[in-house]
Amino acid sequence: MRSLTDLRRQAAEKALTHVESGMIIGLGSGSTMGDVFFPLLAERIRTGVIKDVRLVPSSRQIEFKILEEGLEAASFNQIEYVDVTIDSADILERESLTAIKGGGGAMLLEKVLSSVSRKMILVLDERKIVDKVPPGFPIPVEVLQNLALLVKKRVEKALGVNVKIRTGSGKVGPVITDSGNAIIDVPLPENRSLDWMDDFFKNTPGILENGIFKGVVSYAYVGTSSGVLELKGRR
Ligand code: 5RP
Repeated sequence: MRSLTDLRRQAAEKALTHVESGMIIGLGSGSTMGDVFFPLLAERIRTGVIKDVRLVPSSRQIEFKILEEGLEAASFNQIEYVDVTIDSADILERESLTAIKGGGGAMLLEKVLSSVSRKMILVLDERKIVDKVPPGFPIPVEVLQNLALLVKKRVEKALGVNVKIRTGSGKVGPVITDSGNAIIDVPLPENRSLDWMDDFFKNTPGILENGIFKGVVSYAYVGTSSGVLELKGRR
């Protein structure tokens, strides 16, 4: 039986085929990116297989990994586009390639990255692939810190679900994102589509971004116990 890391690593190797010397590369966040994809990329840069790249991190997690390697992290303000962004997701719909992201709390900057990227490649393991995102699945939503309670109550009233303000370990109170905001996790209601939810979030003041990524994936590589599944998106 292959470990989760093995499944992710074989998918990450496929994602690396989209990375070439001279590119501007966007890097998503989370354990797949930080523990599996980034070390493989860093090794190729260290050994000179990939040269002259600029790396744009979506979080302090990945920024620190870049800096620890002795590499430079480019800021969003220094670039106008990204050749390719490599990222992961919490869950991915097999056909539509709609993903939910933000388990690691970096979806605001990950969405900005995806919006300026010519290609977006996902690295996943088979546990994250579904036909449809099930009701109850938590959608991460970044909200202005000082409005978190108000927005939570508004969303609960509008959707009839229990919304949680995200808390973590190592700090009491709400998790504060790298951009200084709070996160609420909103369970997908029984009778609502992801398109509807995306519109709803976009039309609720105080919400800065949500974790629904639709129509942005170019390829998803899924590590399975019988090899890597390649899913091609429309972008
Ligand atoms: C961070 C993300 C991550 O891609 C997502 O949470 C998956 O993380 P992991 O690789 O740890 O399963 O969206 O904002």
